[in-house]
Amino acid sequence: MNIEAIDKRNIWHPFTPLVGGLEPLLVKSAQGIYLELKDGRKIIDAVSSWWVNLHGHSNPVITQAIAEQAKKLEHVIFAGFTHEPAILLSENLRSILPENQSKIFFSDNGSTAVEVALKMAIQFWHNQEIKTKTKIIALEGAYHGDTFGSMSVGERGAFNNAFAPYLFDVEFIPFPDGENSSEVLTRFEQITSGGNAGIFIYEPLVQGAAGMRIYSPEILDQLISIAKQNQVVCIADEVFTGFGRTGKLFASDYLSHQPDIVCVSKGITGGFLPLGVTSCSEKIIEAFTSAEVSKTFYHGHSYTANPLACAAANASFELLTSNECQQNIERISRQHSDFVLKNKKHAAIKSVKSLGTILSIELKTPGNSSYFSELREKIYPYFLERNILLRPLGNVIYILPPYVIGDTELTQVYTAIEEFLHQLTEK
Ligand SMILES: Cc1ncc(COP(=O)(O)O)c(C=O)c1O
Repeated sequence: MNIEAIDKRNIWHPFTPLVGGLEPLLVKSAQGIYLELKDGRKIIDAVSSWWVNLHGHSNPVITQAIAEQAKKLEHVIFAGFTHEPAILLSENLRSILPENQSKIFFSDNGSTAVEVALKMAIQFWHNQEIKTKTKIIALEGAYHGDTFGSMSVGERGAFNNAFAPYLFDVEFIPFPDGENSSEVLTRFEQITSGGNAGIFIYEPLVQGAAGMRIYSPEILDQLISIAKQNQVVCIADEVFTGFGRTGKLFASDYLSHQPDIVCVSKGITGGFLPLGVTSCSEKIIEAFTSAEVSKTFYHGHSYTANPLACAAANASFELLTSNECQQNIERISRQHSDFVLKNKKHAAIKSVKSLGTILSIELKTPGNSSYFSELREKIYPYFLERNILLRPLGNVIYILPPYVIGDTELTQVYTAIEEFLHQLTEK
């Protein structure tokens, strides 16, 4: 039996129908921005492999850091013990996270970072014996992960219909699309001023899974300001937007109001190992600062603060904060902006936007934009045939390459997109 057949027999892949989907491609190795397949093809990873890779695949600096760490300490229980890679990472993160963030709590991935944030915020009210602030507010279209808490604060639909009866109640406000600002603000003011709003969670400036929907810092700043006036805990889910994706280190850096809690994951290790972090401000910590058993935060995972993942994250931090990387982020951001200017009037495009290293192109469709748009079936294979990995969200094509992508490869991706757009409008 060949190795692909064994995969088919044994493995259940994520977000993949068991019938009718494309067969997975076997990746033998990956270097820089290229995935190298069993058949020798080299594919440009234009989406940074589920939005995690920052400095290129098999980056030698991160590889070395993991190897060195593995020789010293691979893992240790994180209750009752601590270790240098985690301590160093806490300092590194605190030096770049919004200034008010004072403590770092480790977990394993984006969903758990969100789950921890929700539990922290709920227990923040509980520990103060405030029983009224039970309402949780999120944005329509939100995606915060696949565990029960993170699903509950996400848009309800095909991804989570089966679980609907088990998800807790959340008040969703309309997505600020640039034209409905007063409606969004009025609705938010109504909900938060009622006295029972306790938590507001949002993906700052861009909703990734909803179709790379970019919205303005001004409105988000106003929402956070209203939330703060009404003593609502604000959770910034920076799982996708963190570590330079939006052009600044965090999307929250575009805002004047700081969140109480921040969730990060994805790019934190440069895309090498799973790691989640939830940070919080002194205000949150104060509610837990007690020797009482009932006020302790009883949450943890076996691999919490895994030393190899922390070592990878520290190496990735050094690369990210280097001049070279920051210049690359600026370069990609500029080129994305040029692409937007050049193509914004294209007949096949409904809207094209960029924010930092994220470029998002919403294609016109007869119906509404949707993850299940049939254009997806055309787009994905079209680009794969041209050796480009680009995983559309329905009728939304987006790219967010590793920051090490060179101008030649970036142009290759833009050209392929322009050719695709052209053949869409050709009769
Ligand atoms: C904003 C946001 N939050 C949370 C998650 C969940 O992260 P993970 O897939 O690591 O559980 C994602 C994943 O795409 C995300 O985009």
